[in-house]
Amino acid sequence: MPGCIHAIQSEKRIEATSDGSTILERLESVGIVVEYQCREGYCGSCRVPLLAGTVEYVTQPLAFVNPGEVLPCCSRPRTDVKLDI
Ligand code: FES
Repeated sequence: MPGCIHAIQSEKRIEATSDGSTILERLESVGIVVEYQCREGYCGSCRVPLLAGTVEYVTQPLAFVNPGEVLPCCSRPRTDVKLDI
């Protein structure tokens, strides 16, 4: 069961779901806007800081991901996560 998402700057907490949705889809469902282009893990434009927790990638991203960052378009939370957005 994926974890919940805590968007620190937006002060929103999105409860866990098992419907397979990505972090980006879940952020959008509560009105949090994240810049994106490909939604498939290759452009890197959706990159956001990950403050705590771990994610799993639905598809392995081609874009480079630094430690402490996550691509929400192609990932799901493995644990509860805190994002700096
Ligand atoms: S939107 Fe392109 S990597 Fe996420």
